[in-house]
Amino acid sequence: MVSYTTETIIDEWFSIFRKMFDAASPQVIVRSPGRVNLIGEHTDYNLGYVLPAAIDKAMYFALSPRTDTKCRIYALDIREWYEGDVRSLKHSEKRWPNYLLGVVDQLFKAGYQFGGFDCVFGGNVPIGAGLSSSAAIEGGLIFGLNEIFHLKIDKMTMVKLAQKAENEFVGVRCGIMDQFVNIFGEDKKVIRLDCRSLEYEQIPFERSSLSIILCETIARRELASSEYNVRRRQCEDGVKILSVMEPSIKSLRDVDLHLLERYKGVLLSPTVYNRCEYVVKENARVIQACEDLKRNDFASFGARMFESHEGLSKYYEVSNSELDFLVKKASEVKGVLGSRMMGAGFGGCTINLVEEEATESFTNEMKAHYQSKTSKDLIIHIAKLRSGTELIS
Ligand code: GLA
Repeated sequence: MVSYTTETIIDEWFSIFRKMFDAASPQVIVRSPGRVNLIGEHTDYNLGYVLPAAIDKAMYFALSPRTDTKCRIYALDIREWYEGDVRSLKHSEKRWPNYLLGVVDQLFKAGYQFGGFDCVFGGNVPIGAGLSSSAAIEGGLIFGLNEIFHLKIDKMTMVKLAQKAENEFVGVRCGIMDQFVNIFGEDKKVIRLDCRSLEYEQIPFERSSLSIILCETIARRELASSEYNVRRRQCEDGVKILSVMEPSIKSLRDVDLHLLERYKGVLLSPTVYNRCEYVVKENARVIQACEDLKRNDFASFGARMFESHEGLSKYYEVSNSELDFLVKKASEVKGVLGSRMMGAGFGGCTINLVEEEATESFTNEMKAHYQSKTSKDLIIHIAKLRSGTELIS
């Protein structure tokens, strides 16, 4: 297993590439991070607000162009090969190549010209943990191809193409948050992103007095992609109905609680109402959380994280019993400011804002609680906020 924390990363990736591709050297090595999201869940595809950050867990890509149109990709962590031709892309039955082929597909559709390539990638972003390993894979490849083929793609275009790759080739109708923060993330900062205008602000977040701790449930996330698309449709259904009454409404971003209340039970089914209400409230929470941040008021910030979880669990219904259990237990541990499920849901992890000095006791207590409830080990990650996708050689 490669060590991802030392200065030797570049050497290691050079030698991995040489081993896989007959002693040739890679032209570039790219680091592409996973992400956390402090607050603002399931708001991105409703054109609302989010507050994510890129982290110190990352995927690495070693890449070189070829003189023909072949593409050979090795997924180091699972020891699997994919071989194909960039000019005749076909969906792969193994799921993972589709995240990469989707990027190639989008680049061609957007009119970029390039040939084949050799690539090996891998890293320590846990898969299926809600840290967006998918955006790390898409972002890393698009960034790397841009470098080796001198495509001159600007960052915003990379974000949009990476998102489209997942929407169209993988078939998950994700919003823009993950790909955006993967490319635009900055050291020690969170990004307050307006998913409608794509205006954003980088806000310093990391403090020596605070830890961001992720509790990974290792619950299977089978429902994640199908139920994700269902939630998205339910929000669209709400917008469709509301826009008949109020034609200026184009997304849930244009809706407030007062207006929702007016049509409750009349036009909106209870389920659609709950989904819409959660999104409207969550958007308001992101704005308020940013105000808390400006005042350095992490107690209020954390309280909003708990509220966010309650909404996700009871009204958006994307949590599960393990995530709910972890958030409840976290709320009882000394030094915990906030806790909630993170990402698409149905498994994955919780994000916890904890006073730094309580880090160890939090870790021990949560592990013990989880073990006694589920007989499973709880995986703990301490996340540091780091820069977005970058060239490291
Ligand atoms: C996944 C998607 C994002 C976002 C979150 C939920 O991570 O990729 O676009 O919708 O779920 O907030």
